Amino acid sequence: MDKKTKLELLSNSEAKTEAIGRAIGAAVLAGDVIGLRGELGAGKTRLVKGIALGLDVTEYEKVKSPTFVIVREHPGRLRLFHVDAYRLSGAAELWGLGWEEMLNQGGLTVVEWAERVAEALPADRLNVELEIAGANTRRVRMSWGGTESKDLLGRIRKRWSDK
Ligand SMILES: Nc1ncnc2c1ncn2[C@@H]1O[C@H](COP(=O)(O)OP(=O)(O)O)[C@@H](O)[C@H]1O
Ligand SMILES: [Mg+2]
Repeated sequence: MDKKTKLELLSNSEAKTEAIGRAIGAAVLAGDVIGLRGELGAGKTRLVKGIALGLDVTEYEKVKSPTFVIVREHPGRLRLFHVDAYRLSGAAELWGLGWEEMLNQGGLTVVEWAERVAEALPADRLNVELEIAGANTRRVRMSWGGTESKDLLGRIRKRWSDK
């Protein structure tokens, strides 16, 4: 596979995962969608905190797993819609939560446990998979599914290499 279709990073600390998130948050454009995969404790929420920082979300400390509320919204450079699909039965339940409206707000939508609601997610999204590789080590794999997310990954790659 063309190496430009993917970006693989190794994080050896929470801070680094957050820094990766910040590069993502700084690179996103209105309407972008990001799907996060990875088991409990893989660092999805930590990554979203970084994304919030990159989006200049000032209530950064309020970013936490929205497991019970399903979706939290935070104002920033773009509005951040942080969804946790862990407790959803599937895509249909997401539609019932005003999902389509959310996607049309011109914000950034980030979904934890994206695989649980995959059918509801636009194909053109950035996919981020976090894998636990050790106590403090996480493998972060990003890939894209269409033209917007391809451009997004290109901008993230540039930001990360310019750091
Ligand atoms: N490199 C790392 N990146 C992110 N989290 C890490 C890392 N190393 C250890 N951790 C720990 O893993 C946990 C990740 O939690 P969280 O972000 O809530 O995961 P998730 O949302 O995927 O369940 C935290 O307790 C954090 O301290
Ligand atoms: Mg979480």
